[in-house]
Amino acid sequence: MGYRKTAKQLGSKFLIAVVFLVVSAFILLCPLLIHSPCLIDVEDLKAKPDLFGHRGAPMLAPENTLMSFNRSATECNVKAFETDVQLSKDRIPFLMHDHKSEFLKRTTNITKNVSCGNQLTFDELKTLNAGEWFVEKDPFYTVHLLTENQKNDAKMQAIPSLQELLELAKQHNTKVIFDLYHPEHCDDNKDTVDTVTTILRSGIDQKLIYWLPPKNRDYVKNATDFIQIYGNESEMFQENGSHLNVKYSQLTIDKIRKLQEDNIKVNLYVVNERWLFSLLWCAGASSVTTNSCQVLNKMRNPDWTMAPSVYRMIWILVDVGSILTMIGLFVYQWKTNDSRHREGRTNVLLWTMPDNASVV
Ligand SMILES: *[C@@H]1O[C@H](CO)[C@@H](O)[C@H](O)[C@H]1NC(C)=O
Ligand SMILES: *[C@@H]1O[C@H](CO)[C@@H](O)[C@H](O)[C@H]1NC(C)=O
Repeated sequence: MGYRKTAKQLGSKFLIAVVFLVVSAFILLCPLLIHSPCLIDVEDLKAKPDLFGHRGAPMLAPENTLMSFNRSATECNVKAFETDVQLSKDRIPFLMHDHKSEFLKRTTNITKNVSCGNQLTFDELKTLNAGEWFVEKDPFYTVHLLTENQKNDAKMQAIPSLQELLELAKQHNTKVIFDLYHPEHCDDNKDTVDTVTTILRSGIDQKLIYWLPPKNRDYVKNATDFIQIYGNESEMFQENGSHLNVKYSQLTIDKIRKLQEDNIKVNLYVVNERWLFSLLWCAGASSVTTNSCQVLNKMRNPDWTMAPSVYRMIWILVDVGSILTMIGLFVYQWKTNDSRHREGRTNVLLWTMPDNASVV
């Protein structure tokens, strides 16, 4: 019976040993599976991505106001103003993100029910306050960073026209990139034409306009020298473009690197955290659209990089260290087990001896 038990025990011991070895091998080799774009030699690191201010600097001032764009230019050195354009009843392009049912409700003090721009003239839009909401709601918990003067300035912001933004862009030599909203029930094919006309009349360098709206793109391409920006790769390749603007989660790191090698300019939105910006920087992104330009502007390097050779050295040293430790533990276990076994046998002898003695 003792022998059979030992055979079974040997079998399960063997199984445990195999599982143990497989798991250990996996753990020791898993650094081979870890890829980070920031495992990179410093000399291979690309230039810091440009910053595009998402509706300006929306943590420092109410979004899509002149104060917001002004601060993004002077304090964050953004390379582009990112904004949203809609048309008023009297055909003036103005800056406002929300459309559909939320139109004007979140970011102005409107009390009337209006559902799109072409129900109000630009003069009527100008009477609305577009900044008090920011100080009251504090959407990014950053209002405490503003001085009293800045708070007062914020509370006095109005809805800007696209023309006003273009003047600011001319002053700072900043690019302008925007979505053009045509609310469904107020759709008007002339929106593109009127927006293009406003831009051409402003006299801004046409290469500063990053044209994003896909609708009527052919007309815009023929009528202007704007840079064409595409929202997906298939459209970009089809149109022979070289600028891509996509959500950061839509591209893998390898894809970003590949596009960068092919001289495609890649802008990624909306990137607010330092760690994410660091990764995209290591990957070679050309620019990012951000809410936190004041944070990213201060970064001189990605938060973390490591040369691949240093990384390799570290994990090999750690692996060798753990293998030696395991071997040491095994040897220790085996030795103590062995001596306990021998002690056990002597105990049996000691315990059985008196019995035998009494019998005798
Ligand atoms: C505005 O619209 C909302 C919902 O669409 C409605 O509940 C509300 O009564 C309307 N207000 C006015 C003043 O018409
Ligand atoms: C790419 O963008 C164009 C224009 O917005 C759109 O019509 C098309 O469906 C998109 N293609 C893909 C694969 O998303």
